[in-house]
Order: sequence, then structure tokens, then C-alpha cells
Amino acid sequence: MFETRLTKLLGIKYPIIQGGLQWLATAQLASAVSEAGGLGIISSLSFPDRNSLRKEIRRMREMTKKPFGVNLSMLPELTKGDRTEEILEILLDEKVPVVETSGRSPEPLIQKLKSEGIKLIHKVPSARFAKKAESIGADAVTIVGFECGGHPGMDDVTSLVLIPSVANSLHIPVIAGGGIADARGFLAALALGADGVLMGTRFVATQECPAHPKIKEWFVKARETDTMVIQRSIRNAARVIKNKAAEKTLSMEEKGASLEELLTVISGQMGQKALSEGDLEGAIIACGQCVGLIHEIKSVKEVIEEIIQGAQSILEKLDGMVKEKDQGV
Ligand SMILES: Cc1cc2nc3c(=O)[nH]c(=O)nc-3n(C[C@H](O)[C@H](O)[C@H](O)COP(=O)(O)O)c2cc1C
Repeated sequence: MFETRLTKLLGIKYPIIQGGLQWLATAQLASAVSEAGGLGIISSLSFPDRNSLRKEIRRMREMTKKPFGVNLSMLPELTKGDRTEEILEILLDEKVPVVETSGRSPEPLIQKLKSEGIKLIHKVPSARFAKKAESIGADAVTIVGFECGGHPGMDDVTSLVLIPSVANSLHIPVIAGGGIADARGFLAALALGADGVLMGTRFVATQECPAHPKIKEWFVKARETDTMVIQRSIRNAARVIKNKAAEKTLSMEEKGASLEELLTVISGQMGQKALSEGDLEGAIIACGQCVGLIHEIKSVKEVIEEIIQGAQSILEKLDGMVKEKDQGV
């Protein structure tokens, strides 16, 4: 059930991917996703140096024998220099099965990854970047809509429009992200032409996610209106929890603050502290609109199985509707 070009490409049971989650996507969370039949992804930038990243990849291999990925976020780093080369070296050396890139074109990396047999999924927020990713040889593309947690790009196009638009124009597998948190979203994405889904926000509110309990509780209580988009002024739009830090950032942007001034509020290190200490107001925390669809902290296995079983039930219901119509009911 739900075997797609993506499950075949990656060698996974279900077409469900956990997107990179800065500070949270450790081997603990990612291995739970891979063990449950999806593709778990470790966030490389959460690890400060070569050794700690290498150790985490090896820990992942001890926790699961199933395929997994490592996210290489190449957005202009807001706090430190560009670590792409350093991280790439570890990924090649460790021969990780899958690399998820985001932020800028992975063209300079692609030959090296391919020569080690590593699959490349590039994550983009717009149809034109998706086309470009295919043209340079990515194995699959993830398209994220305006609803998504993290970086929705600058075009403000929602998943409902982006998924079919990209699915129509690409030949490689398309993964849909942004706004998906349950069986309905999963099946809708497949119906819109995707070969699989990627979820970020839903996996934050899981037992295996290392976020502080206060953060997970907020994700359970929050509504779909509790996020906002900031950092447009530096062309690095980010959908985040609507809190004091995000409101302050937006008001500084409206007054024309420079990147250096903004960094006093948006620095990644502050986010790390907030996620581990449960500080909901003092730092920027990425979060998608589908937070309004999350009502319980569950295990990763429960999240994935409920999606698969729920999608089967919806399919049966829809099938029943078609049959009733055929019989003139
Ligand atoms: C807390 C959090 C941290 C994230 N960190 C990263 C990251 O480091 N790199 C990245 O490419 N995407 C990151 N994302 C984006 C997700 O990988 C994914 O694209 C997005 O969450 C999908 O949309 P959704 O939130 O509606 O599921 C993050 C998202 C969240 C919620």
C-alpha cells in the first residue's frame, strides 16, 4: 500500500519523510522515523564540528539499519561561516544513503554525491527552483508551500497550487511538504500528484523529538493562526511561532534594521537554547501552520501508522462514494 516511485528510489516502506529540523533532528528522532518505515533525516548543522556530526551518523547506524538521510541546509548562515564543504566531506566519507539539501543550488556537490552512490533530494519553495533541481540531476525534489515551517521562499504560493504545478512539470519523484500533518494531508498530496510527503512541524510534537516538553505542549495547543512570517527584509523568509521574539523581529524589519541588528534576535544559538530550555518567547522557533492540526504528542510510530491507516480508510470511503454514484444512489 502506497508504494510509489519515492519508496522504490529510497528503499523505504512508506512515502513519508521527516524534514531537517535544526537542533531537533538528531539520531533519536530520525532513527524512529526510519524504523517506522519512513525516511528519518539528521540535521547536520545542529552539530558544531566534524567529529560530533560523524558520531551522530554512526549513532544513527547503530539505532537503525534502515535508510536515512542527512540535511545540508545551505541558506546563507546567519551566525557562522559556510560549513558546506566541511559537512560534505563527512557525508561522502560516511557514505550516508540520502542527502537532503536546501537553501541554494546543490549543483557544485552533485557529482561527488553521485560518485558515492548517495541519493540527492533538493528542497525548494518554488516551481522554477524545482525545475532547476531536476535539470542538474537531483534524484527527487521536495516542494514546500507557503504554509510550511522554516523557509517558505518569497513567492507565497500554497501547497494546494504548488504540488500539482510541480508534479506536472517534473519527471523525477516529487515530495510535497508544507501543511501536512495527518492522513488527509498525506492522501491529498498524493492526489495532487506527489510521490510522497515531507513533514516537519508534526514530528516536533512526538515523544522521540528532543525539544523541551513545554515546546511540544505549545505545538499541541497552538492554532493555525499562531505562526507568522519574518525575515522577508533579508530575503530569507521564515515561518515561525508568533511570539515576542518574532514580533520584535518584524517591528525591527519595518524600521529598516540591518542584518547585524536583526541577528541580536534571530541568531540560531538563541533558538537552540529556547528549544532545550522550553523558552517560548525569547527566540525564533520555526513552525508551520499545520500546528493547528496537531492535538496530541504521539510516538513517531503512531504518527506514521495513523497516517497510513487513516489514508486507507479515506480511500475506502471515497471508493464507496464512487460506487454509490455508479449505482445511481
Ligand atoms: C523546528 C523546525 C526546524 C526546521 N529546521 C530546518 C533546517 O534546519 N533545515 C531545513 O532544510 N528545513 C528545516 N525546517 C523545515 C522542515 O524541514 C520542513 O521543510 C517543513 O517543516 C515542512 O513543512 P511543515 O512544517 O508544514 O511540515 C524546520 C522546520 C521546523 C518546524
